[in-house]
Amino acid sequence: MAATPIDVVIMAAGKGTRMKSSLPKVLHRLGGKALLAHVIECAASVSARQAVVITGHGAAEVEAACGRFGQSAGAPVSLQFARQEPQLGTGHAVQQALPLLADDGVTLVLSGDVPLTEAATLQALIAQCDGQRLALLTLSMADPTGYGRIVRAGPEASAQVRAIVEHKDASAAQREIREIYSGIMAVPTRLLRAWLARLDNKNAQGEYYLTDIVKFAVADGVAVVAHQITDAAQVAGVNSPVQLAELERVHQGRLAVALMEQGVRLADPARLDVRGTLSCGRDVEIDVSCVFEGTVSLGDGVRIGANCVIANCSIAAGAVIHPFTHIDGEKLGVQVGEGALIGPFARLRPGAQLGAEVHIGNFVEVKNSTLAKGAKANHLAYLGDATVGERVNYGAGSITANYDGANKHRTVIEADVHIGSNCVLVAPVTIGAGGTVGGGSTITKSTPAGALSVARGKQVSLPNWKRPAKAPRQS
Ligand code: UD1
Ligand code: MG
Repeated sequence: MAATPIDVVIMAAGKGTRMKSSLPKVLHRLGGKALLAHVIECAASVSARQAVVITGHGAAEVEAACGRFGQSAGAPVSLQFARQEPQLGTGHAVQQALPLLADDGVTLVLSGDVPLTEAATLQALIAQCDGQRLALLTLSMADPTGYGRIVRAGPEASAQVRAIVEHKDASAAQREIREIYSGIMAVPTRLLRAWLARLDNKNAQGEYYLTDIVKFAVADGVAVVAHQITDAAQVAGVNSPVQLAELERVHQGRLAVALMEQGVRLADPARLDVRGTLSCGRDVEIDVSCVFEGTVSLGDGVRIGANCVIANCSIAAGAVIHPFTHIDGEKLGVQVGEGALIGPFARLRPGAQLGAEVHIGNFVEVKNSTLAKGAKANHLAYLGDATVGERVNYGAGSITANYDGANKHRTVIEADVHIGSNCVLVAPVTIGAGGTVGGGSTITKSTPAGALSVARGKQVSLPNWKRPAKAPRQS
């Protein structure tokens, strides 16, 4: 028998007042990605047939953002939107999705501000629902203040679930209950539809509570099961910057453990931030306080020094990135070849493609340039829109003048060229293979292979030169 299709409803209409931000709450980032993008990935992880996002506050902004990260998310899921205006409670929120839900499915209810739920947890919840029961994800908390309590028929942990009672509606005795509703449930859609039609808002908050459907299930003789987990982070919501930062640390801690379990050696797992996807070969070492963004891959034996920021870059085996290096490949990417040495204090920008054993030293900037095997630029230099041959040595303080104010032009430096210090190579220009450019030259015309080219004022030395002297001070 084919599994029951899963339709995910993501509640994301709330205001998020406590974020004290003009950005809608669900668009705040965790691990470099919007909270809501994490939740959409949860939907993809259970192979949902669609996800319906309930929007309200900042609806247009949230919907537009979903369009953007929907394309970049790993497994795609078909997204739809339902607006909830005004916001009259969680039951009212799910009601807005009903026209988009088909009765043959199971509805999995998630919140746009709960980013760290694991696929295995949701799959277990869906299995408990089994296309026929109301399955609630629950958790026991030392301090359950504020949460909806799971009310059972008796004191034993396995006693039948009778209701969820919201904190504000709970009696003193009910407030003693430690087991809370996480905000996540799986429910057969045809039953959900019937139960939502029966909701009212006669409660302490004057809201339509989704949680009231539990008592309808009990009244109708439909089994209610609580799937209890112990890992609070999986159901923790973000309501404030403090909670966002706490969950960020949990998320980063999990990524760090996963990397170390693959064999990556982290100097300190508490001082690593991965805001995207980091893939590593064997024997990779990462020193403290490094940030990885976008898609980064590190080959076997790569070593990353302290305080590097590395984004959208692929680093081949054996390369060493010394401390304080900044690499950002953005759309074009950056490639670092095998055994290359980069930094300290180097800057690699989009389109830097460095071959094997290239050396890029301190305060050297490389943008949209290809450097072939063994080329070196060790100090204080700029290479932009350049093609650099094998074994080229590019002197300290030299630059490619690649921009004429309107257009960018290329500089070609052929194999085995030696560029002295403080040269300006005015593009478009080609330095012929094996040639030498004297220090301080401004090169505006291409040079022949093997030539020494010098383009600077000729040195003049006047003998016995007397510098002007200051008149002695009168006192
Ligand atoms: C809800 C549950 C509570 C549970 C808790 C877990 C209800 C009635 N209560 O309470 O049992 O313990 O979550 O965190 O469901 N939202 C909308 N539209 C609305 C109201 C809310 O989209 O009209 C969204 C919010 O943006 C949020 C989510 O639904 O993402 C939960 O709403 P929230 O107000 O946080 O519910 P709680 O009162 O915390
Ligand atoms: Mg809440």
